[in-house]
Amino acid sequence: MTTTIETQPAETVPEDGKPVVELKATGKSYGNIRALHGVSLSVHPGKVTCVLGDNGAGKSTLIKIISGLHQHTEGGLLVDGRPVHFSTPREALDAGIATVYQDLAVVPLMPVWRNFFLGSEMTKGPWPLRRLDIETMKKTADEELRNMGIVLDDLEQPIGTLSGGQRQCVAIARAVYFGARVLILDEPTAALGVKQSGVVLKYIAMARDRGLGVIFITHNPHHAYMVGDHFSVLRLGTLELSASRDEVSLEELTNHMAGGAELAALKHELAQVSGVDTEELPEEGDVTTPAATAPDGSA
Ligand SMILES: Nc1ncnc2c1ncn2[C@@H]1O[C@H](COP(=O)(O)OP(=O)(O)O)[C@@H](O)[C@H]1O
Ligand SMILES: [Mg+2]
Repeated sequence: MTTTIETQPAETVPEDGKPVVELKATGKSYGNIRALHGVSLSVHPGKVTCVLGDNGAGKSTLIKIISGLHQHTEGGLLVDGRPVHFSTPREALDAGIATVYQDLAVVPLMPVWRNFFLGSEMTKGPWPLRRLDIETMKKTADEELRNMGIVLDDLEQPIGTLSGGQRQCVAIARAVYFGARVLILDEPTAALGVKQSGVVLKYIAMARDRGLGVIFITHNPHHAYMVGDHFSVLRLGTLELSASRDEVSLEELTNHMAGGAELAALKHELAQVSGVDTEELPEEGDVTTPAATAPDGSA
């Protein structure tokens, strides 16, 4: 485990590196429900690939395929250029693909350091006298969290006492420590406030700067645009947009998600209800319609 200076990108990140994970016209049917169809996407080291889409768009299905929870029924999944079929999440993990799920798999009453090593505990002593190496685990967890700029007063505190944002950050630091090459985050900011979302976005950027390929699933085009290098928008299981950062503006991305227009409409409605402060919501005029912004009319 190398310790890089927080703000500096890892030197080993190749500019135009080969993708570590690729989907090629991948699809998935659950019985006769086709949840995903013809989706192509690539994940590069040191880059953030954002997957956006409304509820039911197929985002979770996509990451379940990459993380080994489900198998694809169409197309291909490639790791380092080789076609793979993961039958368990363990196989994906062994290939360096770590997933942080929205409902984090933590044991709320266990201390932070125990959760950091959950399922991969350090032990010491020869068999059959092997026992948990508590001291080293505590020390390592503390160092690793500090390396990521996460300073907690007390690693003995139950992880359940941390804020949602802090828990996400611990999960990201854990994936980095255990040598993940690809980090998948399923809507890590969905349940968080503005400030906490910002903190999580910072750690996404840090994981990227350490050379991990990040897949960031989100509803929120603003969050995506703050850290994203590539944007894939899913709609009803197919790719509606796949564009790199220089090919799409935040405004266009927002229009693809329609989130901005909906908020503006909501503001208009809420403004008629007394006692609701709509100050922070966008104005309807602020949100351009897809027709007005898409230069090639593809929106
Ligand atoms: N295990 C499953 N069995 C049947 N249908 C499913 C299953 N998981 C998801 N689906 C369906 O697949 C579609 C995509 O779902 P999902 O991938 O969860 O979307 P998202 O994460 O973007 O909200 C939805 O129509 C959903 O109902
Ligand atoms: Mg989902």
